Amino acid sequence: MTAILLALPGNDALAGALARELGWPLGSLDSRHFPDGETYMRIESECAERSVALVCTLDRPDEKMLPLLFAADALRELGATRVGLVAPYLAYMRQDRRFQRGEAVTSRSFSKIISCHFDWLATVDPHLHRLRALDEIYSIPTRVVHATPALGTWVAENIDRPLLIGPDSESAQWVANVATRADAPYLVLEKRRHGDRDVEVTVPNIGQHRDRTAVIVDDIISSARTMAAAVAHIRAAGMAPPLCLGVHAVFASDAQRTLDAAGAGLVVTTDSIPHGSNRIPIAGLLAPAVRSLAVDEVSAKPVH
Ligand code: R5P
Repeated sequence: MTAILLALPGNDALAGALARELGWPLGSLDSRHFPDGETYMRIESECAERSVALVCTLDRPDEKMLPLLFAADALRELGATRVGLVAPYLAYMRQDRRFQRGEAVTSRSFSKIISCHFDWLATVDPHLHRLRALDEIYSIPTRVVHATPALGTWVAENIDRPLLIGPDSESAQWVANVATRADAPYLVLEKRRHGDRDVEVTVPNIGQHRDRTAVIVDDIISSARTMAAAVAHIRAAGMAPPLCLGVHAVFASDAQRTLDAAGAGLVVTTDSIPHGSNRIPIAGLLAPAVRSLAVDEVSAKPVH
């Protein structure tokens, strides 16, 4: 029987696009809250003897996790052969170390919960900084899909004479790839973070590129303080409002206002998290990874 996709609330558009890419059915579930705040969950499609991929991007993870785990658990009780997770944005990737005595290493705790409830995980550009690979903390098969080729293609097709700019050394990995794809020069700025919302950025001499359109590239736009600091310096150097290009549009609280106040131009992101800035679809990139985890790896297993 073919595999089936199920979308958690808020993930219908991406799950639908993925279903079209894969040629798989998109099933349905009903998830809502009782008046006391507890979750009601019902799997409406027949999933017995099927490999199931639950689609749930994991920004604002605390409110999404219980419904997601209830769905995974219900699927197993209803006889699904495999239950995988497509989480285009993977949460809890930053606290991967105990920086101060007593802190929870939430990256590790989160990965244990996911690994306990799912057979596999597919995601897009997780924030791997001190960790080199997901399998350092996840004990299930994982696939990481990179959005940079799609970002580079978008820049090449839409921006005249771009100058790619990475706001910090961590972004060097993205910006170099996007620049190659867009056949454009790039710079990487230096960032010092003094607090959650206090970011300082230093800019090398960009005067020689003043005739180009600055495009700042980062993996996550969360508080947008990192982007905003880069935008402010680029504007101070006399350049036109830069385009802000991100993989994951987390956009916490006042992020958009922060970017506007700094003088940012257009903001463009992938649809890994639904947001008004989404312009770059990722279903086509995710589909081969999902297919291989949900179907191919199972059929490739030797029969004993
Ligand atoms: C840094 O480690 C990341 O690559 C991003 O630069 C960071 O997550 C962006 O966060 P914010 O939007 O809160 O400055």
